[in-house]
Amino acid sequence: KPIPTINWVLTETKYTRLCSTKKILTVNGLFPGPTLRVHKGDRIIVNVKNQGKYNVTIHWHGVEQPRNPWSDGPEYIAQCPIKPGANFSYDVIFSEEEGTLWWHAHSDWSRATVHGPIIVYPKAGTTYPFPKPDAEFPIVLASWFKGDVMEIIQEALISGDEPNKSDALTINGQPGDLYNCSKPGTFKILFDYGKTYLLRVINSIMNEEMFFMVAGHKLTVVGMDGAYIKPLKTSYILITPGQVMDILVTANQSRGHYYMAARASAGVVYDNTTTTAIIQYSGNYTIPSTPKFPNLPNYTDIDAVTNFARRIKALASKEHPIDVPKKVDTRLFITIAVGTLPCATNGSCTGPNGNRLAASLNNASFQNPEIDVLQAYYKKIHGIFTTDFPDKPPNVFNFTSDELSDDVVTPTAGTKVKVLKYNASVEIVFQGTNVLSAAENHPMHLHGFSFYVVGSGFGNFDIKKDPKNFNLVDPPLLNTVGVPKNGWSAIRFKADNPGVWFMHCHLERHSSWGMDTVMIVRDGPTSATSIRKPPSYLNPC
Ligand code: C2O
Ligand code: CU
Repeated sequence: KPIPTINWVLTETKYTRLCSTKKILTVNGLFPGPTLRVHKGDRIIVNVKNQGKYNVTIHWHGVEQPRNPWSDGPEYIAQCPIKPGANFSYDVIFSEEEGTLWWHAHSDWSRATVHGPIIVYPKAGTTYPFPKPDAEFPIVLASWFKGDVMEIIQEALISGDEPNKSDALTINGQPGDLYNCSKPGTFKILFDYGKTYLLRVINSIMNEEMFFMVAGHKLTVVGMDGAYIKPLKTSYILITPGQVMDILVTANQSRGHYYMAARASAGVVYDNTTTTAIIQYSGNYTIPSTPKFPNLPNYTDIDAVTNFARRIKALASKEHPIDVPKKVDTRLFITIAVGTLPCATNGSCTGPNGNRLAASLNNASFQNPEIDVLQAYYKKIHGIFTTDFPDKPPNVFNFTSDELSDDVVTPTAGTKVKVLKYNASVEIVFQGTNVLSAAENHPMHLHGFSFYVVGSGFGNFDIKKDPKNFNLVDPPLLNTVGVPKNGWSAIRFKADNPGVWFMHCHLERHSSWGMDTVMIVRDGPTSATSIRKPPSYLNPC
């Protein structure tokens, strides 16, 4: 049977927000972009034509793409960019996940405007592990910049300093009532009393973890990152960039108008503006002058961040069992830090102490190679990357102390990758640090896999004590974990997906500064356990 094909054209499209009009890069003119609706087991071809002015690629965030790194997307990792005027066909295979995921551009900062939901429905003949909702709404959280995002990141990288903050956060493309000139456009949904709605909340914000609430209504989180979780009743959620949560909301309050609102959280020291949308009940009632506002956790409420994350457990049912590696044969201990490196340019460099901001994993600050890592690996082109990504940091120290020695804050720049044996049982402990007192939560994301989050805590990871408390019974299966500020998170996965897979912080400025690496998973013994053949056309670098 033929594989369904979808055509996407990337174009610069005029949008007006916050009283000003500019052109943004969109898919088919839409911001946020189109929603992909598929069933588990489907496969689609997405033809992307780039009619914009920048190089671009598209990534299917959270889609494992078994043995198919060729269509994974990150530029200079899995492919060379689609240049203006060129095109590329992505072959996307939805074999593992069920629930909500998303797609986004994966080249410089183009994902600010080029992103959209992916909804993976259960296979025909199967259904949700919760009562079928009466209706569903994607809720896409995003960032709006008055300037051109690609120029903003280019300028920041040249100056070595912080990039501009976004000018607004948005829900489904709209800043909402609290921002200038935004009221008429505020996103609204209609509730019928007694019905239950599924909100598919996606954090595609560039640099902020978010609290999200609906005034007056309880939330029941039933899924995360394309996997089911034990129903979690809560008044608020904390969602980190890259993550997705499926949330049931029952229309059981008095008929009226209610805000849903999202605000940046404590773990992030970047921006604290609030974006809103409105829920309006149907029926006859006196329209209030202003909707009810939710009591969002405070911007500085760090406990609200960690308490929420700790309550998430995998569904772990008979139909949706978990498969967490009980024994581990490959261990990595990865420190996450922001530091500085000498400026490459002079004169225009205005970073801290005349250096440029840089970020690292185990003191290695990632640099994009000139040819994508996948092609270099597959075609055995030497000199593009090195396989010496360290298994642990070069120094052991008190990672959360304020004063760290210089060798800790000065990383080494390079293209260091980690090679994993096929089927290795991998454990990675991510350790946050307090370097440059820019400590914040880091949403660590791995391509090609979902992983089990088996533990997390504050302070330094203790190899003697902490593993004893790992959850191997119902750990959540995620593709992005919020590593706590000044704390650690431990993940496990089986390296059964041969390919070249990017791993990075999903705060976009950290990723731009080098908080990235690549996992190369070697081929298994047969062609059915090896990387697929490359497509006949690959974009030239
Ligand atoms: Cu959502 Cu590498 O990305
Ligand atoms: Cu980060």
